[in-house]
Amino acid sequence: MERFRSYRETPAIRDQEAQVFLAPEDFIVPYFVVEGESIKAPIPSLWDVYHFSIDVLLIELESLASFGINKILLFGVVEPGLKDPAGTAAYQSDSLIARAVFAIKARYPHLIVMTDVCLCGYTDHGHCGLLSGHGARVDNDTTLPWLAEIARMHARAGADYVCPSAMMDGQVRAIRQRLDQAGYSATRIMGYSAKYASGFYGPFRDAVESSPRQGDRRSYQMDYRNRDQALPEVRADLAEGADVVMVKPAYTYLDVIARVRDALPEVKLAAYLVSGEYMMIKSAAAAGVLDEQSAMREVHTAIKRAGADWIISYGAKSMYF
Ligand code: PBG
Repeated sequence: MERFRSYRETPAIRDQEAQVFLAPEDFIVPYFVVEGESIKAPIPSLWDVYHFSIDVLLIELESLASFGINKILLFGVVEPGLKDPAGTAAYQSDSLIARAVFAIKARYPHLIVMTDVCLCGYTDHGHCGLLSGHGARVDNDTTLPWLAEIARMHARAGADYVCPSAMMDGQVRAIRQRLDQAGYSATRIMGYSAKYASGFYGPFRDAVESSPRQGDRRSYQMDYRNRDQALPEVRADLAEGADVVMVKPAYTYLDVIARVRDALPEVKLAAYLVSGEYMMIKSAAAAGVLDEQSAMREVHTAIKRAGADWIISYGAKSMYF
């Protein structure tokens, strides 16, 4: 008989045997930015997450730094009236996100500021790219220059990482080329490389009002019934110039994280615990069926154990630091 229990007898022995530890530097915290002043508005479908105007966000980030968390991911939330078929509010030079990045980097130069690069929060149809064929199809190649333009504007404002999430083929290359031509070769790219069409994005889409008016995202986001496309997607992003790759969602895709990690041990890999996964834990805790703090800790540890270096999470701060 092997005496496995000897590994677990006391807290000290358990600590000695532990292999996976979470650290504040593992986390990337998403923030939703809105126009206006003095705004910190709760998002009904995403508990303990807020819409922030830039001035209040600047104050909020002070407490984040006190936890030792040094990475944030910004999403812009614009008024429905500013949305149009081409998503022009996304790439104006004084766009909401450009102003937010500029203000944040001025106040916190050492904070790593990442920006989501997509059209879905800015188009009136709610898709991640431009439509063609009388609105029937999201057109890959005509979308690319506009994603590149959004990224250029974010880089100009001082973003450290631009993060294309539209799932258009060639988006990383288009962005890398535009950034290099514009003199932003130091701006890095985190690709949402293996991003699945997921039922767990609902609360986020409420927060950004980015649900497609018609249809869904299954013609560009990955089908979760397939297991073999994730690695080629990741490899393509790396070949196109991504510095960091991502698997999304995370909690329900631990196998995909592990496959990417096993195949590419050296790559910097992020995983996104998405809004619905986060709310699953929060609402189960609110129903009294599990303890929020220990469940959060266990899930985040599992994501890291599967192979993620960085975890994008709404729950990073609330967990324990
Ligand atoms: C934009 C985008 C989405 C999320 C991150 N970037 C929504 C989507 O693809 O529909 C989801 C994040 C979350 O659910 O927390 N393309």
